Amino acid sequence: MAALLEVSGLRKAFGGLVAVNDVSLAVSAGEVLGLIGPNGSGKTTLLNLIAGSLRADAGTIRMDGEDVTRLPNHKRVRRRINRTFQLVRVSKDIPVIVSVMAGLLHGAERAPYKDASYDAAGILGELNLLLKAGQRLDQLTYIEQKRVELARALATRPRVLLLDEWLSGLGPGELDGGMSVVWSLAAQGIAVILVEHVMTAVRALCGRVAVMNAGAKIAEGPPDQVLRDPEVIRAYLGDADA
Ligand SMILES: Nc1ncnc2c1ncn2[C@@H]1O[C@H](COP(=O)(O)OP(=O)(O)O)[C@@H](O)[C@H]1O
Ligand SMILES: [Mg+2]
Repeated sequence: MAALLEVSGLRKAFGGLVAVNDVSLAVSAGEVLGLIGPNGSGKTTLLNLIAGSLRADAGTIRMDGEDVTRLPNHKRVRRRINRTFQLVRVSKDIPVIVSVMAGLLHGAERAPYKDASYDAAGILGELNLLLKAGQRLDQLTYIEQKRVELARALATRPRVLLLDEWLSGLGPGELDGGMSVVWSLAAQGIAVILVEHVMTAVRALCGRVAVMNAGAKIAEGPPDQVLRDPEVIRAYLGDADA
């Protein structure tokens, strides 16, 4: 199957620090691609480049065959690329349902206003948040806030979804629920790039994993194979020494 999102030779430097160095990868509809690597290896920067919150110094990003490398973030959202943030970023003082409606009104399909509240309720229902619809984000637990952030991203109807440590910080009882959510997104045909430290989740959800270290992609393949790779093990041990 042709890849939905194709990234080729991406590079981003901050001053003298090359945060993303010549990275290529591809992800297909319905696939969950794991993106792992030690802290500071460039995972979030790579997601920022794909989402268009940062402009690449070199390389190309193609979405469904179209070159989107030079498009700003909001235009990529309309090309159906969206993401969640490592730290929750949804406005804290507005009702949950309103932040999801905003996603619907500004996303790829730009839903008519009269449908937005109904559709937002549907998305909140899928994420078990319907009873929280009228509450402000700062009244919710951390886990619920992460789900709202996902709801808001889903409201833009992404075909490529970038999850930045969306499962991190979940307790053992919450992880199964979070993993089912990711699994159901893929089952709906969404291409997911999952940046994650929780290896149980990576092994369970990802058919393929790419590993970053110091800005470069150092390995890619099935999780079992990649996590046994001596270079990958060295990268993680180096991180522990730091
Ligand atoms: N806006 C920025 N300005 C300067 N340096 C940055 C910026 N964002 C990230 N970096 C640096 O780029 C490197 C990669 O960071 P990041 O992509 O956040 O890694 P990861 O998500 O893998 O932990 C780190 O050394 C980080 O300090
Ligand atoms: Mg990060």
